[in-house]
Amino acid sequence: MVFYRHRMLPLQADLDNYPALYRLNHELFSCKRSRKMRKLPILSVAVGVVGLLIVLFSVAKDNSEPIPTAQGSPGFGVTLPTGYREWQVISVAHEAGNNNDIRAILGNDIAMKAIRDATFPFPDGAIIVRLAYEYISSARNNAIFGRDQSFIAGNPTNVQVSVKDSKRFTSTAGWGYGQFESGKVNTSEKVTNSCFACHAKLPASEDFVFTKYSN
Ligand code: HEC
Repeated sequence: MVFYRHRMLPLQADLDNYPALYRLNHELFSCKRSRKMRKLPILSVAVGVVGLLIVLFSVAKDNSEPIPTAQGSPGFGVTLPTGYREWQVISVAHEAGNNNDIRAILGNDIAMKAIRDATFPFPDGAIIVRLAYEYISSARNNAIFGRDQSFIAGNPTNVQVSVKDSKRFTSTAGWGYGQFESGKVNTSEKVTNSCFACHAKLPASEDFVFTKYSN
């Protein structure tokens, strides 16, 4: 019995994390009556399995979202901002041609205020993210419409980030740039250097941001 008891106990760490499991386990093992004692090995296996499942489930859940990388973009050190997926929508865009994608452009609170009021340049701390997805025809939706008219977001392709910090990014009008795929930074200097080279074609009065706020 002692052998089973120790072998089947969940890890102490699991018990600490799940007080209900601890109580159940404690009640089982402190039971005095022999009829119940006979059930002990089976019950302790059950408790162990439940504990293991809970731990595995929490690990799997934690891994289901892309984990922002600590490494920044080449030259700028821009990282994927935490919580960006919860930010407000500035606008949407579709690019045909090689990219053939559909995009959502989101901003943090500082960026939202500036772009709504069109007060440029953006203040330090403003961040704009551009989430691009494959632009695909939806067979499912088209079947309902009875003709091909529905285009939707497919798999994500990349996320581009523009961060305003006039002290950090002095040679690029205060903007730092980064591109990310599946939560990982794109380490190509060529890609990252292309950002300001193109955005700088806009007049400074628009602070090198293409997107306008859509009501
Ligand atoms: C060849 C030009 C070009 C290059 C290179 C380019 N962009 Fe843009 N970017 C645009 C245009 C045009 C838009 C708006 C329309 C669109 O999204 O298609 C835009 C939109 C954005 C937006 C939404 C806010 C805004 O400025 O309108 C972000 C953020 C952004 N780009 C970041 C980047 C980053 C980061 C890179 C480099 C990794 C990059 N861009 C490279 C042209 C460019």
